[in-house]
Amino acid sequence: MDSPGDDGEGRVGVAPVRVLVVEDKERDVAQVVGMLNAYGSARFDVRFATTVGGASAELAKLDTDVVLLDLSLPDCSGLETVQRVAVAAPGVAIVVLTGLADLERAMEALRRGAQDYLIKNRADSDLLGRAICYAIERKRVEQERNEALERLRMASRQKDEFLSTVSHDLRSPCTNICVATDILLTGVAGELSEDQRKVVEQIDRNVRRQVRLISDLLDLSRMESGTFSVLMGTFDLRRCLRQLVDELAHVAGSRGVTLHLNCAEDSVPVVGDEDRLVQVFTNLMENAIRFAEKEVSCTLQPSGASVVVHVDDDGPGVPAEIRERVFERFFKGENQAYRAGTGLGLTIVRGIVSHHGGTVGAGDRPWESGDSAPHGARFSVEIPIRS
Ligand SMILES: Nc1ncnc2c1ncn2[C@@H]1O[C@H](COP(=O)(O)OP(=O)(O)OP(=O)(O)O)[C@@H](O)[C@H]1O
Ligand SMILES: [Mg+2]
Repeated sequence: MDSPGDDGEGRVGVAPVRVLVVEDKERDVAQVVGMLNAYGSARFDVRFATTVGGASAELAKLDTDVVLLDLSLPDCSGLETVQRVAVAAPGVAIVVLTGLADLERAMEALRRGAQDYLIKNRADSDLLGRAICYAIERKRVEQERNEALERLRMASRQKDEFLSTVSHDLRSPCTNICVATDILLTGVAGELSEDQRKVVEQIDRNVRRQVRLISDLLDLSRMESGTFSVLMGTFDLRRCLRQLVDELAHVAGSRGVTLHLNCAEDSVPVVGDEDRLVQVFTNLMENAIRFAEKEVSCTLQPSGASVVVHVDDDGPGVPAEIRERVFERFFKGENQAYRAGTGLGLTIVRGIVSHHGGTVGAGDRPWESGDSAPHGARFSVEIPIRS
């Protein structure tokens, strides 16, 4: 669009504003034309329509900067008029010019796409002239914002697709390396010397860390693009946590931490995605082991229609002011003395839990008699049982 008329300060040399007056009453048309002329006839290039149908045809035919729109026309009336014109010309500013002074209706007109709402017998040439310039400017800003938003959405979609493809392509060769290190470490391909074993173990550790990071990125990109899904089945959560605690016991032991499972029930059947829930509790327990001083406990409590799992540790705890932030992607607390994580673990935990219709939160480990001060973190997961 060219610069509209002038800026109201008398500067010249700018293109006239292309105005479409949509009004069926001759007297009102004359009044509008009078006001536009009084504001400065050279500033406006005015065309006319008497119906919404006629206006739509005009808008399709010629470029227009602003529509001055009456709300009671022969083929349409009320706020639907605004909507129809906004649909017919999405990039054109609309100033409603009506006889009805109703604030609610004016607000609704703005929500449906108008940029201003003037009352006919209260408008004068100056008010109308300025309203036209402001409405065009508002529309221009709105258009720019929408375009920027669309560019952002597109960039985000492309980033998700790129991440998804790259993660896939990176993961396959890493998985092959894991198979090879497994073969070497199990001795199937011949016995390794002590030095050779150490090197292969180092390769194995690093490549597994890499696979985990790539899988986290893939999960995250699927969650953000809405393509993440869970495979529901019925399984015993107690058995699953027992296995996990046994598997992680040696990692905990190597740090001088003991790991317990507390559960009063023999079995706790739930409906969920077993692999994904193992991923959730692995993440929570690995975090807890990393921060614990001496012990970590996992407590499983069926409670009515849901089951609650607490993972407690006796480490420094999670300060109240970051208890929500720890679930944000790439968030890492300051106390990272132990190792370099990526800060994706808890984001993915929350994503998986909410795919099960559940919740997860961080808090203080409950006080125990003999504790001098509250310390330690508690992460609690609650999921519906649905068995
Ligand atoms: N048990 C805990 N005690 C204290 N702080 C914790 C505990 N668990 C998590 N946090 C804090 O929350 C942050 C985010 O945890 P999250 O699991 O998302 O990432 P990470 O463990 O740093 O990396 P990743 O899991 O991606 O390898 C951690 O960096 C840590 O600061
Ligand atoms: Mg983690």
